[in-house]
Amino acid sequence: SPYLKAEFIGRNYLHFESISSTNDYAKEIAPSATDGTAIVAEEQTSGRGRMGRHWVSNKGQGIWLSMILKPNLSPNEAVKLTQVAAVAVVDSIKEIADIRSGIKWPNDIVINSKKVCGILTEMNGEIDRVNFIVIGIGINVNVQNFPEDLCGKATSLSIETGKILDRKPLTASILNNFEKYYRIFLINGFSSIRNLCKEYSLTLNKDVKVIINNNECIGRAVDIDDDGNLIVVFKNGEKKTIASGDVSVRGL
Ligand code: BTN
Repeated sequence: SPYLKAEFIGRNYLHFESISSTNDYAKEIAPSATDGTAIVAEEQTSGRGRMGRHWVSNKGQGIWLSMILKPNLSPNEAVKLTQVAAVAVVDSIKEIADIRSGIKWPNDIVINSKKVCGILTEMNGEIDRVNFIVIGIGINVNVQNFPEDLCGKATSLSIETGKILDRKPLTASILNNFEKYYRIFLINGFSSIRNLCKEYSLTLNKDVKVIINNNECIGRAVDIDDDGNLIVVFKNGEKKTIASGDVSVRGL
């Protein structure tokens, strides 16, 4: 692609007309794939979201992308890559679609309170070091209609901008921006992108419902710390550090 500036993310680029799930395929080939391999499909027949949910991935309507990474990181560090990817996606949406989006901590990209993109990070390895990481990014680009259960909850770039968008420059921009932030993250750690996460956050300074071992607690999200955790202050004044993956956080 003439748009791709990244030096290793997406240099090995596998494109499919139809696939079950780019994340499943990525995990399958990851042991022998080169670091930075990108997998893109026009359509996914079993696109997956978080918590075992289905991800609608119709033909040509979105970017269904997975990236294979092989850094020297512990799983605890690797989960932070979801937020690195989120920052990259927000920048790319602004760059290519000229519209502002924000991050619902830690991994949903939202426009006008509706979800336009989800990120699913999966990994394999040992407690002290991962073998590989797969970052799956699904962006609703030219979707015009969502199934009934997603109405009011999901949106697409074309719905929000009123334009049909070329997916190629957007895909390349995501690979470029992800590589940029990924390098910064590997060298300087999460704290170096913390300010962008906070700037783009739609969760901060809002009330959130946190579910901790089946208990619902309402508190106010007051900060994202140097490790990417959400700091929540509860009604009784108690302050808790919420790690992504630990809990489910919902806006109110
Ligand atoms: C979520 O918000 O629940 C995460 C959605 C992730 C969807 C992407 S699309 C490309 C990749 N392949 C999948 O099966 N899922 C991710």
